[in-house]
Order: sequence, then structure tokens, then C-alpha cells
Amino acid sequence: MNIGIDKIGFYAPAYYLDMTKLAEARGVDANKYTIGLGQDKMAVPPITQDTITMGANAAIKILSKADLESIDLVILGTESGIDQSKAGATTIHHMLGINPRARAIEMKQACYGATAGIQLAKGHVALNPTKKALVIASDISRYGLNSGGEPTQGAGAVAILIAADPKILILENDTSYFTDDILDFWRPNYSDFAFVDGKYSNEQYQRFFEEVYTDYMEKTQRSLDDFAAFTFHIPYSKMGLKALRTIADEEDHATLFKNFKDSTYYNRSVGNIYAGSLYLSLVSLLEKGSLHAGDRIGLFSYGSGAVGEFFSGILQPDYKNALVADHDEMLQKRTALNIKEYEAMFNASLIKDGSHQILDTRNESSDFYLKEVKHHQRIYNK
Ligand code: COA
Repeated sequence: MNIGIDKIGFYAPAYYLDMTKLAEARGVDANKYTIGLGQDKMAVPPITQDTITMGANAAIKILSKADLESIDLVILGTESGIDQSKAGATTIHHMLGINPRARAIEMKQACYGATAGIQLAKGHVALNPTKKALVIASDISRYGLNSGGEPTQGAGAVAILIAADPKILILENDTSYFTDDILDFWRPNYSDFAFVDGKYSNEQYQRFFEEVYTDYMEKTQRSLDDFAAFTFHIPYSKMGLKALRTIADEEDHATLFKNFKDSTYYNRSVGNIYAGSLYLSLVSLLEKGSLHAGDRIGLFSYGSGAVGEFFSGILQPDYKNALVADHDEMLQKRTALNIKEYEAMFNASLIKDGSHQILDTRNESSDFYLKEVKHHQRIYNK
């Protein structure tokens, strides 16, 4: 049975900061961000958007009524969830009106959580071929104002519908994964900000890629020529480019590099969305690239801490027609922030003492948003 991605779409918050403005404010040459890191804009979430609302906003764009009936597994992959106990997927399940006879869980392994969710969803559909699974990757990436990681922040969510006989991408069963207990990036429970050893995390990302890519190629007896494109987990687009350069030469494999560039289209304007970064890259490639049915795409997923996985998929006929959401329009409608507005939005916080906070939602035009916090509970619009 062929199982894979039947639908895919993403949501990014309605505000952004231009990287040249951030560079100017931090006294850095703008080329460091736009060329050195390969990022143009960074999505900035207002206080009314969290991992739950962003996830639901991504999913509602792609799901039909029939999908809502046949989904019986909802997985939220996130590392910026809002509760230590209750899975955000239960709230998203309710917001979207999914069939109550469903499982809903949250998965965490840094930026790898959604990939784990997809592999679990594949197994679920293999056992229940008439059912569908909704996997959502949703995250807010925060390192702190004036921190080393600040230019690699971002926010957004990707929603992926996993089904039998998928319209977009069959996920092949060939996969290679690798785990090692390292501390390259982490966020203790008491901290709102992630801690990262930037250089070390870069080295580990490349090491994990080499591990799983080499193992996959040995197991499958495939070579570079069996792939039309590679997509990577890209906290910033240069990171994926560096990984591609370890396996392909730019002169000899110009098409792979052109396809890689296409695969960074949305990431360059949204920034790091942690668990969703690989899948935002896949959406970019599917929408902006010129691949054909039957082409094989390689996917490298990496979650600090760390787990890496390399797997692959085969593009389906008419995959372009199955891409339903208008993402360019969503990004074009965003509001540009100046540095003061960005810092104010970054510093805005929800109350933590159980009192009643009513949020200003007058500028909210998303389908789902947070409107109040009361008795330690988040209250969303319905
Ligand atoms: N013009 C063009 N490129 C420039 C430049 C300029 N004026 N100034 C610097 N650069 C390049 C550097 O050469 C470097 O490129 P390279 O990596 O290809 O050598 C790149 O810009 C970054 O410069 P660097 O000095 O390494 O930046 P930094 O010390 O500020 O750190 C990160 C950058 C990415 C390490 C830091 O932002 C970070 O830690 N981010 C979080 C990383 C992360 O997300 N990890 C976890 C997920 S896997």
C-alpha cells in the first residue's frame, strides 16, 4: 500500500521584521543575515497567536469536511507547546471539528517531532487504510533580543494530511534514523528562551546528516542521481545549503542546487519554525519548483538533542493541483514591523498569576486566535 502526503499547507503570523532592519539595529552588516545566514524576513507572532492557533490556522486551509470525518489521529509536533500535560492536539482537534473518535497527542523531540509524527501516522494508516492522520508542526522560535540566535527566530505551522494513495507524495519505507544524547540546543522548563551552542549545533547537524544519508544510500543501493531534489531542516537556509554541498558539487549538479534554492522560498521569508522547517521547505519546493511526477525527493529531518532521519518520497501525478492554499497571498498581506514594534511584540507576555487578561484582538484576521486568559486557562475564539 502506498501511504504519504495527501495535502499540505502552512500558516505564518501576520507580522514580519525585515532582516536588514534587524541588522541595522544590531550594528551588523545586513549581508551577514541575507547572504551569510540566507534569510530575508522573520515572522513575528502577536500575543494572540500560539502553537495551537497557528496549527489550527494551517490545518483549516487544507481540510475538507470529508477529511474531518476520516481523520482519526491528530499529532502536534512542537517544542514550544503551551502545557506540560495537556496535548495541544486536543484543542486543535476541537477547533477544527474533527470526528471525536480520534486519538490526539503531542510529540516532542526538538525540530524532529513532526517527522516522528509522520512516521507514526504512516504506521497508523497502514493498519487503517480508510483513515487519515493529521500531523501538524507548529512552533515559535525565540532566542531573545540581542542574542546570537536572534536572526534565526521565526514562527509558523505546517499541516500535513497523511493518507493511503496520497495525491502529493508517496513516502517510501526506506528510511534511516540516528540518535545521540548531546546538548547542542535545549530549553529548560523554567526558560522562555532556547539555549543554543550555535557552532556545535551546526557541526552536529552535519554529522547527523552524514550518518543517516550514508546509511540510507548503503541500505537502498541508491546514489545521488536517483534524486531530483533534497529538502532539509532549515533553521536558516544556509544550513541546508552547507549540507547539500557535502554530497553534491555545485557545477556538476546545478539542478539540485536550483531545486534547493526553490525549496528555501518560504523559509527565507518566515524564518525558523523549528518542527515545521523541513516541511515549509517541502511546500516551497512543491509550489515554486518544477519537479515532475515520479521524481524522488530526499528529506533530512534534524532535532537537536539529537535525532536525525533521512527518508524519501515519490511525487505523484497532478501533485500541483493538490496544493490548495495560497501562501504567497498570505505572506504579501503581512504587516512590516519596525524594530521598536518588533521588540514590543517580542516582549509582550501573558499573565501567569491566574487573573483575567483580555487581549486586544482588533487586528486579528486569522481564523483562530487567543482572546483571553482566565483562571490559568487560554480561551480561544470559536
Ligand atoms: N557578508 C556575508 N556573509 C557573512 C558576513 C557578511 N558581511 N558576515 C558573516 N557572514 C557569514 C559567515 O561567514 C558565516 O557563514 P559560514 O557559516 O558559511 O561560514 C555566517 O555569515 C554566520 O556568521 P557567524 O560569524 O558564524 O555568525 P554568528 O556567530 O552570529 O552565529 C548562528 C550564527 C547561526 C550560529 C547563530 O545565529 C545561532 O546560534 N543560531 C541558532 C542556530 C540553530 O538554530 N541551531 C539549532 C537548530 S539545528
